[in-house]
Amino acid sequence: MFITLEGIEGSGKTTQMRQLSASLENRGHSCVLTREPGGTVLGERIRAILLDPASNELVPTAELLLYMADRAQHINSLIKPCLADGKIVLCDRYFDATVVYQGSARGLDTGLICDLHRIIFDDLKPDITFLLDLAPQIGLARAWKQLDIGTRSGSESRFEEETISFHEKVRAGYLELARSEPKRFRVVDGSKNEKQVQADIRDALAEYF
Ligand code: TMP
Repeated sequence: MFITLEGIEGSGKTTQMRQLSASLENRGHSCVLTREPGGTVLGERIRAILLDPASNELVPTAELLLYMADRAQHINSLIKPCLADGKIVLCDRYFDATVVYQGSARGLDTGLICDLHRIIFDDLKPDITFLLDLAPQIGLARAWKQLDIGTRSGSESRFEEETISFHEKVRAGYLELARSEPKRFRVVDGSKNEKQVQADIRDALAEYF
């Protein structure tokens, strides 16, 4: 089974992923926790380029292709083998992030992004995607707090430095995707406190099972 978590910066995905993985493991499921960009040794090197504010000269198509390169490595060396082994793969961001960040927000053709996904990755889609939805003002305030107190490194702040209007496009893009694929997406209110969000995810997953 393939589960992804998506949302704007500061939506709490990473914390929720860890908790979801722990609760599934407690119930006897074998889980693999991974992320994009990253998740493989090479992917982490690509991540460093993509998230570094010093990479600001990246043009949108180069950015898109770096995310795709990361995903090619990730799918082939980790996601597919783990799924074939019967494990639950929990991935912090995946293809939907490319559609909304590089498509809806950067303005690249979302049709082209979907075509590339179909051609290169055989349209590998998650079974279920949790979208942690919240206003960018709240998410960005949380994200900047993490940067200020050092729980997230300043060398990973390129997207936090984008404008509110960029993050509003990301949020709108995600909600649009969720409306277009209601079977796969579960939209969870990410502005609630950690425990409530955790309970909402657990309930939605129990319903799915
Ligand atoms: P995160 O790991 O803290 O969520 O940071 C990853 C950043 O990369 C985040 O700002 C969203 C962005 N991103 C894209 O722009 N396109 C993608 O395809 C993915 C996976 C992430």
